[in-house]
Amino acid sequence: MNAPWKPGGPNGRDPFHAYVCDDHSLDLLRAVVQEMGWPIERVHKGGLRNAVQSLSMTASPNVLFVDLSESGDPLNDINSLAEVCEPGTVVIASGQVNDVRLYRDLVASGIQDYLLKPLSVDAVREALVNAQAVFAAPKVDISDDRPHLMVTVIGTRGGVGASTVATSLAYLSSAKGKRPTALLDLDVHFGTGALSMDLEPGRGLTDAVENPSRIDGLFIERAMVRASETLAILSAEAPISQPLITDGSAYYQLEEELRSAFEWTFIDLPRSMLVQHPHLVHESNVVIVVTEFTLAAARDTIRILSWLKSNAPQSQVLVAVNKAQVGISEIARKDFEHSIERQVDLIMPFDAKVTTQAAKLGKTVAESGRASKLGQAFLTLSSLIASSGAEMVSGSNGAGKKNGNSLISRLLEVKLPKPGKGKAKTETDAELIAE
Ligand SMILES: Nc1ncnc2c1ncn2[C@@H]1O[C@H](COP(=O)(O)OP(=O)(O)O)[C@@H](O)[C@H]1O
Ligand SMILES: [Mg+2]
Repeated sequence: MNAPWKPGGPNGRDPFHAYVCDDHSLDLLRAVVQEMGWPIERVHKGGLRNAVQSLSMTASPNVLFVDLSESGDPLNDINSLAEVCEPGTVVIASGQVNDVRLYRDLVASGIQDYLLKPLSVDAVREALVNAQAVFAAPKVDISDDRPHLMVTVIGTRGGVGASTVATSLAYLSSAKGKRPTALLDLDVHFGTGALSMDLEPGRGLTDAVENPSRIDGLFIERAMVRASETLAILSAEAPISQPLITDGSAYYQLEEELRSAFEWTFIDLPRSMLVQHPHLVHESNVVIVVTEFTLAAARDTIRILSWLKSNAPQSQVLVAVNKAQVGISEIARKDFEHSIERQVDLIMPFDAKVTTQAAKLGKTVAESGRASKLGQAFLTLSSLIASSGAEMVSGSNGAGKKNGNSLISRLLEVKLPKPGKGKAKTETDAELIAE
């Protein structure tokens, strides 16, 4: 939280304060707090408003529990709490609203956990123990003003090469851009993020999905597999013999943690996850829709672009066609663009030689095939993202993101052939595609 330090008692902060609205919560918290060895007189009756009032005058505790039940606008009220609460305080909220969107927004605004009422002893105990551990954990020095860029890669059909694009872009960001980069492969059962870099995925992602309450900065540090100094991967080969039960909150939390620990995050997002967890693209700055020149892919590109308009209006969307082959396509570029009602932003050629070589070497295509047309196409895509990132920094990571006349669009006008030129355009494609 954000307020300046206030003078506290003789040894600084109290371990715990709580502000709750009803007697059941009051009694339950007092019992758990006593168990934890904390003073029970710090469990107050009264909700968020009382918390704000008293914290504006006294030092903030290590752990703060606030009941949002009487708050008409929890998010706004949490912000006023942030103004009076000192840095380092770990805040747990509770309330009656069972809405994953609210949960996610609260987590985004700095809340450690949200407990649904009526409270249970076990849930409260677990939340307090976690909060205490988070408070005690060594803090990683992360400056808040560092811009973060989240890039989501979505394939319109299986096998179009979305994971190939995601791993290559992550490699380029880390190796060429020298940025601390994360790759989150959300194909929990069949992900290839780690495999394509010849790494064991480990159990990190599966653990995260099974125990979302364990996800924090420290967890991320331990669970991620290092591909290099600057590239870390979270991927999984979850057992396929039993379904993973999740409401998706683990994925949102992972995105949040990656956001604060890395500079660029790439999310390899299987399209089936869109349907299940649309929130996963709500914070994306750039979405890359990887597709191909087939009828089925055209249909699904249309559907996904329209879905993105409603679910990720803040994002810059790039359409990248992969596996393009001169003279061999179900649907011509012009017809494809006509049906998706926009230009294709980048064409990546089919090149089985380069992708096979990459697989054999256990390297990304961008690394092992850097001299090929395909490798060059990945470089172009990466620099388009970088331009977009620069623009977001100048627009304070968000302003202007909705603007279609972005730097990306302007860059693309230079790089891309104009539509509707018939034969000439096909030749330009051929140039891009030819070896
Ligand atoms: N431009 C390309 N040319 C030839 N093969 C490719 C190309 N891009 C990807 N592939 C291959 O296609 C297969 C599927 O790619 P993958 O990235 O796993 O697709 P997705 O994640 O969309 O299902 C892989 O074997 C990959 O090497
Ligand atoms: Mg994939």
